[in-house]
Amino acid sequence: MPDNIANQIAAGEVIQRPASAVKELLENAVDAGATDIRLFIQDAGKSLIQVVDNGKGMSETDARMAFERHATSKIRNIDDLFHIRTMGFRGEALASIAAVAQVELRTRRPEDEAGTFIEIENSRVIRQEPVALPGGTSIAMKNLFFNVPARRNFLKSNPAELRHIVDEFIRVAMAFPSIFFSLTSNGQEVMHLEKGSLKQRIVQILGSSQAPKLVSVQENTDYLNIYGFVGKPETAKKTRGDQYFFVNNRFIRSAYLNHAVMNAYRDMIPQETFPLYVLFIDLDPEQLDINVHPTKQEIKFEDEKIVYAFVQAAVKHALAQFSVTPTLDFDLDPSIQHLDAISKPVSDEKKAEVTSSSLYQTFTRKNQAHFIEPTNKSELRHWKDFYEGPAGSQQKAAENGPAQNPLHTDNQDLGALAGSIQKGGGSQPPPTQQPAANTTTDSLLGINIPAKPIMPIENAPLQQLLKTFISVSTNRSFIIIHQQAAHERILYERYKTAASGKQIPSQKSLFPATLTLSAPDTILLNELLPDLNQLGYAIEPFGKDSFIIQGTPADTSHGDDKASLESLLEQFKHFTSEIRFSKREKLIRTMARQQAVKPDTALSEKEMRILVNDLFACTQHNITPGGDPTFMEFKPDYLGKMFGR
Ligand SMILES: Nc1ncnc2c1ncn2[C@@H]1O[C@H](COP(=O)(O)OP(=O)(O)OP(=O)(O)O)[C@@H](O)[C@H]1O
Ligand SMILES: [Mg+2]
Repeated sequence: MPDNIANQIAAGEVIQRPASAVKELLENAVDAGATDIRLFIQDAGKSLIQVVDNGKGMSETDARMAFERHATSKIRNIDDLFHIRTMGFRGEALASIAAVAQVELRTRRPEDEAGTFIEIENSRVIRQEPVALPGGTSIAMKNLFFNVPARRNFLKSNPAELRHIVDEFIRVAMAFPSIFFSLTSNGQEVMHLEKGSLKQRIVQILGSSQAPKLVSVQENTDYLNIYGFVGKPETAKKTRGDQYFFVNNRFIRSAYLNHAVMNAYRDMIPQETFPLYVLFIDLDPEQLDINVHPTKQEIKFEDEKIVYAFVQAAVKHALAQFSVTPTLDFDLDPSIQHLDAISKPVSDEKKAEVTSSSLYQTFTRKNQAHFIEPTNKSELRHWKDFYEGPAGSQQKAAENGPAQNPLHTDNQDLGALAGSIQKGGGSQPPPTQQPAANTTTDSLLGINIPAKPIMPIENAPLQQLLKTFISVSTNRSFIIIHQQAAHERILYERYKTAASGKQIPSQKSLFPATLTLSAPDTILLNELLPDLNQLGYAIEPFGKDSFIIQGTPADTSHGDDKASLESLLEQFKHFTSEIRFSKREKLIRTMARQQAVKPDTALSEKEMRILVNDLFACTQHNITPGGDPTFMEFKPDYLGKMFGR
């Protein structure tokens, strides 16, 4: 196999996307002892990635050697693997980069008179000459994957790749606050990180609003040192955001150590929320195996359990020391305190009893609240038997037919039920042998004739139940609307129309709020700005990483514009089905979800009326954009059956 092909294959492991090259180049600059590292990007790294450092530089021979695979490996025997003090050790990164991009290297050691310029393509040096430059190194890689079209096509959109780059940049910059870092994308400097303390670096990266939230962690032992910062419990967010672990200054992912931190927060933060943390663990490299993953983001500890225990203890200690542990004396009515449910721990049997009940199961089976267990029906039947006596039950048995396959019976039951109760008026009818409720089958022609569409009765009384649902009578049934789901559908359709046509009017804020964001969020918000403004926000950039919120979409009430925009960005970033949708569709769905009226919100008669009317004016009123039902329909025959009539 020709060398350059072998190199391309091997490169695939190390360089998967522009961000991986960024990581390697930044780490090399750190290893070279640089105190000033600048990253330049064009087209999200697709056309250019360049790192300029003021480190120790390379001699002419070293410069040529640097691109040879393993020629520079710092590992000579297996023992060396356990004494790694530098970020790089495989001697693979530059060889990989040279295999998949056009590379220009300029480098000079401070002690040398002239520097070296080398140009490489397809792993071959095509030009080399002396060059004048200040001490340090500049490596520019152009047209990544120019010679591997399949990989190039595989790259994501520029915003997506840029976000990966920013992530990698942050991971290196966070670990070395004593080094100056900057990131310039398409000629614009988007990050500028002056040298400083770790806390200053965190604040520079995550935004100044984070400063008051940080609690310092510092614990030294003979075995390892832990230091860094964790967020106060009350600042834990709904989405997993800013969580960083570094082991010997190397960013790592570790579900195990994350668990240790979460454990330290136990009972201090609500379920499903995530605290901020930036934690550094330093320990003897002998206790580590970094080489388990080509990108070095996974490592193995010699003794995982000890590290877990230390991390948990250190975080707990820090939280306690800064007395941010919430006190647990809620002002509860003493009579409530004495109830069994409160004072006695939940036993396993109790738990099992609750979870096995069919009521519990209908609640937990998502989208299937309409699903009625066939057993329920037979229970009802027994209940009737009890009153009717054996004669009645025999009659029932005869009606059902003598030797029916129980499965078949279930299906028929379900079919009958499906014909009577439907989520959202029958958008996704369950499997049934009976015709769906919305249609009647013309037996002669064998075609489905649509049944009359469901419509709420005009001016019918509306009732809000549990501050979450609205009941209303329709032309053929009564329905229970989920206020949040319904509102989500209404807003979705409204934003969708606005996105492709008439702008949503914006409601001017009396006191425009300024929003200061972290660098990655600034990039994201800039990206979304045109769409947001179309959808009724009036947001203007204000300086490098700040924005002024002049107005928000009319008709949506949210007290705190700043907090609501921050949470919109958070939710957008963590939107799950990201591949299927365009950026705009994602934004619209996120906004609809975020701004929909929440459960447990009292609504006035007028508000309910508007909600119901708006819902039925929607082109698709029965499901949310995400496919959940917006209402349940209860028809008389179904309710009758429930009562065994
Ligand atoms: N910015 C730089 N300044 C000075 N020397 C550099 C620089 N970048 C690379 N080198 C030299 O080139 C060598 C090869 O770099 P490369 O990244 O390919 O391998 P590595 O860093 O040793 O290991 P790894 O593959 O794990 O990153 C380095 O060992 C270093 O000697
Ligand atoms: Mg390296």
